[in-house]
Amino acid sequence: MARIVVVGSLNMDMIMRAERMPMKGETLTGGTFSTAEGGKGGNQAVACSRMGAKVTMMGKVGQDQFGDLLLDSLLREGIEARVLRSSIHTGVAQITVFQDDNAIIVAPGANRDLHPEDLDLGCFTGADGAIFQMEIPIETVEAGLKGAKERGCTTFLNPSPIRPIGEEALSNCDYMVLNHVELRQLTGEDQPDAGIRKLLALGVRGVVLTMGSKGASFAYQERLGTMGAPKINVVDSTGAGDAFMGAFAVMICEGSPMEEAVKAGIAAGSLACLREGAQPSMPYREQVFRSMASM
Ligand code: RIB
Ligand code: NA
Repeated sequence: MARIVVVGSLNMDMIMRAERMPMKGETLTGGTFSTAEGGKGGNQAVACSRMGAKVTMMGKVGQDQFGDLLLDSLLREGIEARVLRSSIHTGVAQITVFQDDNAIIVAPGANRDLHPEDLDLGCFTGADGAIFQMEIPIETVEAGLKGAKERGCTTFLNPSPIRPIGEEALSNCDYMVLNHVELRQLTGEDQPDAGIRKLLALGVRGVVLTMGSKGASFAYQERLGTMGAPKINVVDSTGAGDAFMGAFAVMICEGSPMEEAVKAGIAAGSLACLREGAQPSMPYREQVFRSMASM
């Protein structure tokens, strides 16, 4: 069983389904509303746990009801929660789902209050993998990557939402999972190939470029590849990238080859699109393997 530490955000997602995006100044009626546990950190922790890993999650929530709900959900998923409470409100994401796409506004709240000194670096000792995203302060991501690497973890970064990050932090990153826009903004290169080469030159071992319904490309050592995604009817793509990261990281930590890990990521991402909400839509290991077998 892989042991994985996830450091990142926890948000309560406010989900509204609409026919289309409202225009500026327009009020649109007829939408439906639901809430679900989310946040890229929490989503990836749930994705790893449902893929069969033993997971510890480090993060911060407020002293409010949303914070309680997010903590309860992690515990129900069998995740060890090293989650601190802040005097700032719990992170909230306002998500509009329309047709097969979405638009998200995040109020980070307590996630913004997760500082480097809040990290319990001892948790990385003995863990196989450590996963980070960028919905928490960048200094915390940088300190976490360094601490995890020094303690022998395989490190994973999903640089989303994209923000400037130091080159040293990138060189402490073994695997990066990102999309085209993130790759362009992170490396300043227009061509994906050039961007990927830049990351590899910095010491990143494996780069995975996710392409939504088109699957994913990867670069690892001398190997390059592209893999398509199964055809599906998207219900809600929220959390698909997180499902990808979770399944991919668990496979790598279990010693699977890059191709298999990417395939698991694509399968998990597709499965997450079949259900509304982020954390509730993370697939279980059996589902991911069944889907891989038919890919
Ligand atoms: O990646 C999806 C997540 O992004 C949502 O759960 C939302 O909370 C935002 O952080
Ligand atoms: Na979903």
